[in-house]
Amino acid sequence: MARTVKLAPSIIAADWTRLAEQLRECESAGADYLHIDIMDGRFVPVITIGAPIVEAIRRLTDLTLDIHLMIVEPEKHLQAFIEAGGDIINVHAEAAIHLHRVVQDIRSHGRRAGVCLNPGTPINSVEEVLPDVDQVMVMAVNPGWSGQKFIPSAIGKVASLRRLIDEGRYQAEIEVDGGVKPENAAACVAAGSDVLLAASAVFNAEASIGANIRRLRSAVETNARLPS
Ligand code: DX5
Ligand code: ZN
Repeated sequence: MARTVKLAPSIIAADWTRLAEQLRECESAGADYLHIDIMDGRFVPVITIGAPIVEAIRRLTDLTLDIHLMIVEPEKHLQAFIEAGGDIINVHAEAAIHLHRVVQDIRSHGRRAGVCLNPGTPINSVEEVLPDVDQVMVMAVNPGWSGQKFIPSAIGKVASLRRLIDEGRYQAEIEVDGGVKPENAAACVAAGSDVLLAASAVFNAEASIGANIRRLRSAVETNARLPS
């Protein structure tokens, strides 16, 4: 039996003037999570949005909110994003000096904890917290912008992480973020990814949100990974 892959549209590429409508399209197309990119202009060059907008989005949808904190000192802002309604709070291993404490803190509030790895960061930097996290996000681009090219070495990284998680019998899911398209989605899943995240492959002028989500899903379902 093949693993069911979750799809997480990232609203960074959405039409913000029609956000409510676009969220409904994501829901009807069967999106599993809604990914929200929080950028602070320090950890990454760009500034996006903060907790008040997440709180507004929370009122627009029941989708699981997957909050990607691309910010320095994430420990200072956890509470705000938890109170805003985030379901999964992801922090970068490069930004959290006390990663273990941050993960415990997120979980102590009943939220799912995720850790993210930049393309240049090895998986052993999260090895010690693997038993304590709900997901690991493998970045397939250097964070900061939507629409960048997928870095192929992410596939090998996902595969190595899959082995570590399976060998340790941990529950953490693997999410791939950046440059995910129908053309590389199957390879991500074959390597062991559980959640595929996509912004420009979902929100674009070429097709509707629904058609794009269905295209991604059929790309992974026709090439679904067999259990090991
Ligand atoms: C990268 C963000 C992503 C990204 C996805 O900094 O974390 O979520 O914008 O965009 P696409 O899918 O267009 O690469
Ligand atoms: Zn992201």
